[in-house]
Amino acid sequence: MQRILGIESSCDETAAAVIADGTQVLSSVVASQLDVHGKYGGVVPELASREHLRAIVPVVRQALEQAHCTYRDLDAVAVTQGPGLVGSLLVGVTYAKSICLAAGLLLIAVNHIEGHVHAVAMEAGQALEFPALALVASGGHTHLFEVREGFEYRLLGKTRDDAAGEAYDKVAKLLGFTYPGGPVLDELAAHGNPRAVRFTFAKIKGPGHDFSFSGLKTAVLRYVESQPMEEEIAARRALMRDTPRPTLSQWLQVTPRKTLDLVASFQFTVIEELLRRAAAAGEQMEARSLIVTGGVACNAGLRQAAAQFDFPYPVFFPRPSLSTDNAAMIAAAAFPKLRRREFAGYGLKAQASLALQQSAHIS
Ligand code: KG4
Ligand code: ZN
Repeated sequence: MQRILGIESSCDETAAAVIADGTQVLSSVVASQLDVHGKYGGVVPELASREHLRAIVPVVRQALEQAHCTYRDLDAVAVTQGPGLVGSLLVGVTYAKSICLAAGLLLIAVNHIEGHVHAVAMEAGQALEFPALALVASGGHTHLFEVREGFEYRLLGKTRDDAAGEAYDKVAKLLGFTYPGGPVLDELAAHGNPRAVRFTFAKIKGPGHDFSFSGLKTAVLRYVESQPMEEEIAARRALMRDTPRPTLSQWLQVTPRKTLDLVASFQFTVIEELLRRAAAAGEQMEARSLIVTGGVACNAGLRQAAAQFDFPYPVFFPRPSLSTDNAAMIAAAAFPKLRRREFAGYGLKAQASLALQQSAHIS
């Protein structure tokens, strides 16, 4: 049995996990910083680095304890090298290097986006047929990749402006809801009419399968400016001040029907944008499966719409706990690299931007 300790600290979650043979989750610990960033409506990089420093030692210790292992039982340590917030990444990368140096372990560098792909691959196993199309939609990324056998990637399209999760977060902030916006808007969308407000789809010039979400965000802003919504927005902000994590029924009490319709229409447009572009890319590359992953893959409306979309190949979503940032996916992504003996050296650098095709490795 080969065990890998995974460490993830690219954004606002400090996570560690132990995975056996690339698929068996022995432990997965995630320390979220939601309560720290929630009131700012987004991640504050300086605070994030500080929280990672506070959390990294207990989170790794807990992951080892839950997996009933010590450093001696590990074969390698995998760490997210990028993309992400550089100050946050540095904490994970430096800690992983220290463990490797102290315990004589091998170090493996993992691209965060590849981690999200493996969140699905580790569960789907043989059912995942290649070439697969991967739609990675989170707070920082909205990318389409062709994934070939052996996990080789070709970028087919990406957002030209905001990521899908970022659009959720910005619209939520505008309307007076908590950060992150995805979960709360997703729940509220189920109570509104998705066809009440007609938003136009982004027109993208040029070849490829790029996305755009900033026009939609601006359209929501224009709609809000044209409506008498100040009072309800103020009521929601007041609710947030008194209750850091309001429940759905508390939100519903301060959200009129018309706003629920707006939220449902926004969500409908995001989902259409994601699925229509994925379908076009899948057709062009003759995909044999579709992977939908990243924080936005938690979206109940997206899961439902994907099931009804009639894709001519199976669609795979990770289970919700593996959709948002976690370290199990980082350790899983490292397993094929362990097999190929693709190890990183102690010169490994955290990288704020890191293309999937050029993840660093030193053999
Ligand atoms: O993958 P993730 O944890 O972190 C990044 O790599 O960015 O994704 C976080 C993002 C946030 O923007 C959050 O609003 C979004 O995923 N998200 C959702 C849902 N749950 C989380 N977006 C839409 N619907 C959801 N249910
Ligand atoms: Zn992520």
